[in-house]
Amino acid sequence: MDAESVPSNQRRKFLMVMAAGLGGAVAAVAAWPLLRFLAPFSSGGASSKVSIPRKEVSVGSAHFFQYQGRPAVVVQLTVGQFVAMSAVCTHLGCVVSWQQGKGEFLCPCHGGRFSAEGQVLGGPPPSPLESLAVAVEGDQIVIG
Ligand code: FES
Repeated sequence: MDAESVPSNQRRKFLMVMAAGLGGAVAAVAAWPLLRFLAPFSSGGASSKVSIPRKEVSVGSAHFFQYQGRPAVVVQLTVGQFVAMSAVCTHLGCVVSWQQGKGEFLCPCHGGRFSAEGQVLGGPPPSPLESLAVAVEGDQIVIG
């Protein structure tokens, strides 16, 4: 059976199935980094902890760092009271920035706003920033 003997509608169907499969594979490869970025942090394990010197986070300021390969932030709300959270916006995954004068986070992509504790204040984000466990051990803030 040569190529001339295959009916054109079968050939067209085969090519459409192959194109759909290839398109699906390309979409899955392209979406993987975004899905991994938006996935919740895994919990537990001493290796998942990050230590930050207390002196690097003054009262009312935010300190950004990497946690499990993704952006995170710790804020000192009042003297000795720290909160830590993911810095990845829960809308479409942009990294929020700290607005020192307002004491809140702003997402640069669509204007989502979050409180210093990560609660949604406005804009399209559907949920708060993912919180992380925080403990103060001596002069270190231990996150995770
Ligand atoms: S990605 Fe943050 S508001 Fe859209």
